[in-house]
Amino acid sequence: MTKITLTFGVVTALLAGGGSLRAAEVPKEVPDQTVALCDGQSTMTIAGLKPGEILPPEKASVVAKDMLQAWRKTQGETRWAAWAAEAQAGAPAAQAAAPAAPASPAPKPAVPPAAAAAAPQPTKFTARDQLLWKREQDKWAEEGYKLFHSPTGLGGTIGVSCDMCHPNATNTHPETYPKYQVQIKKTALLRDMINWCIENPEKGKPLPEDDPRMRAVEAYILSARKGVALEPGKH
Ligand code: HEC
Repeated sequence: MTKITLTFGVVTALLAGGGSLRAAEVPKEVPDQTVALCDGQSTMTIAGLKPGEILPPEKASVVAKDMLQAWRKTQGETRWAAWAAEAQAGAPAAQAAAPAAPASPAPKPAVPPAAAAAAPQPTKFTARDQLLWKREQDKWAEEGYKLFHSPTGLGGTIGVSCDMCHPNATNTHPETYPKYQVQIKKTALLRDMINWCIENPEKGKPLPEDDPRMRAVEAYILSARKGVALEPGKH
């Protein structure tokens, strides 16, 4: 376990652009809060954070950035460069143009006459159906968006929200699940990684798999990666 201690003074100095992470004395009378980082190996102490205190967004996002820098230290510059490039580029769904229409219409599958006679009439989805379903679906993604941007919505206890490290759901890579995750020591599904990040950088409790909040966040993350090819197991 690596332990990194920060005070807000150091944090502010970092924000102002100077200095690297350094250990600082923590005054005895202020109880510290230790937060586990995303690598599953390190913890960071946020000095001055009282138990039960939820940091205001500006302070919380500085803490989130410090956690990312600590992760960078353990993961190395290659992984960091990939992370930073994606965060800067934004979410694929936001940039990706609508998929190009096929040059020629796909040939209609030939239906053997006997099967055609036996088959029930295909249901025609009306525009109204499609609209209602889309609205219903969008509701989930929108709810997920709110939770992803909320410091407390998913049960986080220190004021840190997902978007502080994953702007526009960048670097969430839902298309790579299931995959073996070393910090969880098992083949993880997307929801396992969501719970991992709730428990560690957000210091919350994991959500049950069928919790509506879990379903909503999954819906949002997947919607944000629309158009990205599935690559289970990709690291
Ligand atoms: C302090 C920064 C931080 C916060 C806050 C944070 N994450 Fe993460 N997250 C990371 C880092 C760093 C990783 C990469 C961990 C690794 O594999 O080494 C990660 C990984 C992930 C992954 C897996 C990405 C992949 O490539 O497989 C998902 C999904 C994810 N986070 C979702 C969330 C959700 C949902 C929240 C909010 C509950 C959240 N994160 C909050 C830093 C953060």
